[in-house]
Amino acid sequence: METVIVYETDDAVARAVAAAFQAAARDAVAARGTAHVALSGGSTPRRTYALLADAAEPFRARIPWDRLHVWWSDERTVAPDQPESNYRMARETLLAHVPVPERHIHRMAGELGPADAARLHEEDLVRAFRLASGGVPAFDLMLLGLGEDGHTASLFPGTRALDERGHLVVANRVDQHHTTRLTLTVPVLLAARDVVVMATGASKAAALAAVFAPGADPHVSPAAVLRCSAHRVRWMVDRDAAFIRPQPPASA
Ligand code: 6PG
Repeated sequence: METVIVYETDDAVARAVAAAFQAAARDAVAARGTAHVALSGGSTPRRTYALLADAAEPFRARIPWDRLHVWWSDERTVAPDQPESNYRMARETLLAHVPVPERHIHRMAGELGPADAARLHEEDLVRAFRLASGGVPAFDLMLLGLGEDGHTASLFPGTRALDERGHLVVANRVDQHHTTRLTLTVPVLLAARDVVVMATGASKAAALAAVFAPGADPHVSPAAVLRCSAHRVRWMVDRDAAFIRPQPPASA
């Protein structure tokens, strides 16, 4: 079931995502005793993570942090202390300020050879989710962003990972950015119980429109793959990303 929710501002999007995070964490812990959440990288989530970490905001005190397992949708092939690291961004904005047990923080080892990092992370997923052979983890919440080219996680247009169905995590060569990324694969994104895609700003409007265009091809607009999910997918966007222009005042 997918829903597009348009908010007036990027701050309203950040607050809505924080509220979704709080609700998903509480519901998962109430139902299963623990919550597995995957964080998005990039810059959009920074405000959400800061809201979750802020004791003056209503979220932090209501989240069972000690029952959370924190993962990532993707990671850059850099060391965890590098500015490009998605782990570093989440550590600085959120994890350094909330009591998630260290053993519950499952970063992708961007400092290792990409194939080794993907293999080790897949082993971590299998262990943590107690997966049978061929099993796919069902994250309680998957936070994702949207790139201007329509990518999500590190599933970029025209890259091999888009067709990967046999692994949970892969090293994905992204020639258009002259890099390799670590990313969860499509089966994992589609297995998530609850997906929130956040997109703000006019620079995302074309990508969002392409995702929702009839016959959108995930090889061209990768985030369109989320429209195949059998679970809840909420697109939380602001007016600029939704390409909605304010209506002129009704003529008197
Ligand atoms: C990453 C993210 C990526 C991100 C989009 C949007 O590693 O960069 O996981 O998928 O969500 O690129 O990035 P912004 O939020 O910076 O626009």
